[in-house]
Amino acid sequence: MATDHAIGIDIGGTGIKGAVVDLSTGELVTERVKVRTPEGGRPDDIVSATRELLAQLDGAVSGAGPLPLGVCFPAVVKAGRTLSAANISREWIGLPAEELFEGAFGRHIHFINDADAAGYAESRFGAARDARGLVILTTLGTGIGSAFLYDGVLIPNTELGHLELDGADAEDRAAYSAMERESLSWEQWAKRLQRYYRHLEFLFTPDLFVVGGGVSKHHEQFLPLLELGTPIVPAVHRNNAGILGAAALAVL
Ligand code: BGC
Repeated sequence: MATDHAIGIDIGGTGIKGAVVDLSTGELVTERVKVRTPEGGRPDDIVSATRELLAQLDGAVSGAGPLPLGVCFPAVVKAGRTLSAANISREWIGLPAEELFEGAFGRHIHFINDADAAGYAESRFGAARDARGLVILTTLGTGIGSAFLYDGVLIPNTELGHLELDGADAEDRAAYSAMERESLSWEQWAKRLQRYYRHLEFLFTPDLFVVGGGVSKHHEQFLPLLELGTPIVPAVHRNNAGILGAAALAVL
């Protein structure tokens, strides 16, 4: 397999998924494989589940040496250490996660925040390709993840899902999980998104918003309901963006 291939793995609250990516095209060159995130999301259990998934991917590209490997995760990640735990076990706080995974898998890994990976993927291969100025990508899922890209350069760990807005953590009200939990209609949810994106616009005056997460496939149900001064577009890679970005960042 050519050296412009890498493996991306996206660890989430419900599933861990991965694939081999062609970095020249941004396409998956294997099936996307997936395992369930172990109950409780504890570090050792996640390492074991990820090892199982990696074995399947390594098997899919047998013949080559181990490919570069990027892993993205729903937490602040600084110098390979996970510093927060909003929707996962608190045991991740302060953990040298990159080192833990490298020790367990016996190879070099690049460990990053999941929304940063998704933002980088959209900037390199998707909705924000060639965009200038400030692009803010948000992922609407269990939580809200965010990525800042300025002229295509990633500014990591922005954590805009945890802005305090109207006395609440923004993701508790505006993530897709809030819509499901409270059985909101698209219109009701869009009102919360309007409040959230308007606030981001006020704080940062971005040039483009990109909206990711699985729900972005239904973008026509809620994006047209938003009234903003900033263009807002759906992500192109949705559930694969974390995989693509993790793989691409692994070789930087
Ligand atoms: C976490 C972020 C993560 C986002 C999306 C938030 O709760 O704090 O680190 O990017 O969820 O998974």
